[in-house]
Amino acid sequence: MTRKILRGRVLSFRAEPQTPDDTQSFDYIEDGALTVSDGLIEAVGTYSDLQTQAVGTEMIDHRPHLLMAGFIDTHIHFPQVQVVASWAVQLLDWLENYTFPEETRYADATHSKMMAGRFYDQLIDHGTTTAMAYCSVHKQSADAYFEEAAKRNMRMIGGKVLMDRNAPDGLRDTPQSGYDDSKALIEEWHGTGRALYAITPRFAITSTPEQMEMAGVLAAEHPECYVQTHLSENHDEIAYTAELYPQARDYLDVYETYGLLGPKMFLGHCIHLKEREIGVIADTGSHPVFCPTSNLFLGSGLFDDAGLRSKGIINAIATDIGGGTSYSMLQTLSEGYKILQLQRQRMHAFRAFYWITRGNAVALGLQDKIGTLETGSEADIVVLNSAATPAMELRAERIETLAEELFLMQIMGDDRTIAQTYIAGVAQKGHV
Ligand code: GUN
Ligand code: ZN
Repeated sequence: MTRKILRGRVLSFRAEPQTPDDTQSFDYIEDGALTVSDGLIEAVGTYSDLQTQAVGTEMIDHRPHLLMAGFIDTHIHFPQVQVVASWAVQLLDWLENYTFPEETRYADATHSKMMAGRFYDQLIDHGTTTAMAYCSVHKQSADAYFEEAAKRNMRMIGGKVLMDRNAPDGLRDTPQSGYDDSKALIEEWHGTGRALYAITPRFAITSTPEQMEMAGVLAAEHPECYVQTHLSENHDEIAYTAELYPQARDYLDVYETYGLLGPKMFLGHCIHLKEREIGVIADTGSHPVFCPTSNLFLGSGLFDDAGLRSKGIINAIATDIGGGTSYSMLQTLSEGYKILQLQRQRMHAFRAFYWITRGNAVALGLQDKIGTLETGSEADIVVLNSAATPAMELRAERIETLAEELFLMQIMGDDRTIAQTYIAGVAQKGHV
């Protein structure tokens, strides 16, 4: 058994902060420490307390940095690592001209394997310790995704996309093959080590009604799995969906009809929703996913976080690489802050850091395992340096409070802010 003590300023959320100075919602220990053993957090407390309990244990001193739960990204596309920053008008043109051609490469298992390694390197560098990803339509891309996660002992969620129309040759399955491949992947990966499966009908445009029905069958047969798709990202997408599903009352009705909604459903984007759709999302406990950098990059629109929350909906937040432009959940918060500003909504720093840790874990129903630094949690930890760049260091000279320090990282932070990332208690970046 390998036990170690990490020393630093420990910050972990117990509940969602309601106001910018809601100090009841988190634990903050100035000279804090975590004892980590067998991939779990064994103890949390002051350094002096923990040190006396574990005399002789290896100590890694991260002072003056902050120790927080690893970040969680709830919507990302694994086969789009080489699509980021592609010049396109908006969503449908971007998919057709860059994204779909790129994803055809993942038919090749060797390519998928190589890219899975590169993908996880990026996540770790940016402090993301759990993500829920779309793989390509090819089963081998999902195998590569889960194999590499298993090698790194990461808690990853994902699934092969189901898509049987409106996509080029080499990038379509059939209702039956999509069902069979998903079933085999669930059997092999869901609950294997730290892996969890997400049934993934890409979106209404790329699935026939027959395939949507099969996705519904899979979801009914596997209530333990997540479901993920896209909803109301772009006006042309919504209009095309209405043409393809003329009976549907609205876009969400396509997914509703096939029994795909519920607390395990993650709906990417949810920008241009109708009243009825918002009501159904609330009633079913489904989760919209806010993807700020993608929504700005593709010119999709402004996510109404406060409007959805006012109906009791729990929103998740994510990068949406490669429509998104950064792997960093800090950059995601920064762009998200600005999107909310444009709508006279605010995202204060405590809520922001809650959102990318415990908040996303709560949406996933995984708050007993990840997203916090509580005793018994999995030891996925980030070490944050709020003075990581000369510009941040200069600004940090004027900082007096924890909230100000967090806000600086929320706005100016990126991969350079991540001094270290621990996966199940194991440091991933060269020792700092
Ligand atoms: N809608 C369907 N597929 C995609 C995708 O890959 N990215 C984004 N942003 N939207 C989508
Ligand atoms: Zn997406």
